[in-house]
Amino acid sequence: MIEFAGLQRQYNEIEEQIEQTVSRVLKSGWFILGQELEKFEREFAGYIGAKFAVGVNSGSDALLLAVQALGIGDGDEVLTVSHTFISTVDCIVRNGARPVFVDIDPDTYCIDPLQIEKKITKKTRAIIPVHLYGNPADMSSIIEIAKKYNLYVIEDASQAHGAKYKGQRVGSIGDVSCFSFYPAKNLGAYGDGGMVVTDNNELSEKIRKLRNYGQSQKNVYDFIGINSRLDEIHAAVLSVKLKYLDKWNECRRKNAGRYNELLSELPVVTPVEKKSAEHVYHLYVIRCGKRDNLRQYLLQHNIHTQIHYPVPVHKQKAYRDLGFDIRLAVTEGICDEILSLPMHPWLSEADIKTVADAVKSAM
Ligand SMILES: Cc1ncc(COP(=O)(O)O)c(C=O)c1O
Repeated sequence: MIEFAGLQRQYNEIEEQIEQTVSRVLKSGWFILGQELEKFEREFAGYIGAKFAVGVNSGSDALLLAVQALGIGDGDEVLTVSHTFISTVDCIVRNGARPVFVDIDPDTYCIDPLQIEKKITKKTRAIIPVHLYGNPADMSSIIEIAKKYNLYVIEDASQAHGAKYKGQRVGSIGDVSCFSFYPAKNLGAYGDGGMVVTDNNELSEKIRKLRNYGQSQKNVYDFIGINSRLDEIHAAVLSVKLKYLDKWNECRRKNAGRYNELLSELPVVTPVEKKSAEHVYHLYVIRCGKRDNLRQYLLQHNIHTQIHYPVPVHKQKAYRDLGFDIRLAVTEGICDEILSLPMHPWLSEADIKTVADAVKSAM
């Protein structure tokens, strides 16, 4: 069987360190808002190249709190994509604002900067680009538009830990950035976790309070917040895994290169990495006709695949009542063609060859 995400193989590589780390935290008797989190927040901010990092319960909460802390709410509009994980959009609606969908670039599947300006109105407050699949969005164009119209840029970097845009790590470019540490991410915890990253001290302090019931000191509440803290055990585990992130991302890039070579003669579209970008292949997504037949064939040959994402957000039942009577040609066009092949750092040459051969025989 060729697994999709290889988490057991990851554990085999770091088992001893993880067991020592978890045991150390358990013995310390301190589980929430302690030195493990403070240390990991410093390390992660340093890795991304930003001043502050605030650990939260999930990537979804990171987004929710980032939008709230920027004061975006009733009557505001936020531009983002519909071809993404649902949380990118939920955070806008849950803060009382309205998402306005922009179509995607057919090469990178990230927000298409050429489509942004026509969607800007007097109510627009922010843009949320998603570095989808680990491939950086075109940040220079996005920042230029944001500056022109005085908009915030909130990077959704949940799938792109370590990816670079023009030499700079994603997550250090916008006003504030959000990461998920869902177990299968390039940097993942053993459970849910997330992080907000920013250079803005005031904003980071506000998010620090919001994630802890809005509390500024014991029994004093400055804001209406939530309980969303990254636990000590997760922070300690993530600190161990952070040391491996560059090596693991390099393996993903090498594996993607090998897939690209082996699939090059076949009638499938392989991922596009622009010159300005360093893709970290959280997912390796191809496009082809008769996608569902191919998926079925691969499953019969014990090769696990997934679809990210079969139905765009604006077509989901949860969003129907919000009246999105729009057509997003690229977003809607690729849904039936995209297929995520197994991708993780522990794929062997034989694994990749098995997958590529199976794709070939299915054609
Ligand atoms: C692009 C994107 N945004 C947001 C999230 C939400 O993160 P979490 O699952 O940690 O809440 C995810 C996670 O899958 C994601 O891929």
